[in-house]
Amino acid sequence: MSNIHLKYTEKQDYISLLNYTLPEDQINFTALPEQTFQRLEERTDNHAKPITILLDDEPIGFFVLDYGEDKLDLTKNENSLLLRSLSINPAFQGKGFGKIAMNLVDDFVKENFPTINELVLAVNFLNKSAYDLYLKVGYIDDGSQREWINGMQHLLRKKI
Ligand SMILES: CC(C)(COP(=O)(O)OP(=O)(O)OC[C@H]1O[C@@H](n2cnc3c(N)ncnc32)[C@H](O)[C@@H]1OP(=O)(O)O)[C@@H](O)C(=O)NCCC(=O)NCCS
Repeated sequence: MSNIHLKYTEKQDYISLLNYTLPEDQINFTALPEQTFQRLEERTDNHAKPITILLDDEPIGFFVLDYGEDKLDLTKNENSLLLRSLSINPAFQGKGFGKIAMNLVDDFVKENFPTINELVLAVNFLNKSAYDLYLKVGYIDDGSQREWINGMQHLLRKKI
């Protein structure tokens, strides 16, 4: 059985997370960990936490839980979190790990952010694999969408 779990990103994870890039057909859909770490450092509000996806003890992926203002572009719910910048190291993609990790997010959020009752995210219209994945783990597409720098995005939500 694959042992996937989530934890707050620590400095020691950087080596693995900075070590991968994404293929050309995926690079427009999300920010790489390196870009994301840089943006998080530049932010003054400190309202976003990087989360590492571990396979046993090896960091194989990453996402951000963001409780800053940006989520309010997707929902009016103040008790929500924006899930962003998800990526899985291409060497580990297509093995079901992304799906397991996304299923673990709900309990991780309930434990660490007890007031949060909804997760929201944006996914590019052309990113069919990610869109399908989110629907499979319970996100709802109510038809909300927005035009974004890299194209149109579906706005998805999940009550937890
Ligand atoms: C999206 C991503 C995180 C999925 O991770 P993953 O570990 O490869 O996904 P899984 O193996 O768990 O697959 C889960 C589901 O995703 C979909 N999926 C994954 N890879 C796919 C592919 N190459 N083609 C079509 N669907 C795919 C399938 O619906 C799959 O469900 P199934 O196993 O029941 O068929 C990964 O492909 C990735 O890092 N992509 C680049 C960054 C990105 O697009 N992030 C999302 C930004 S919103």
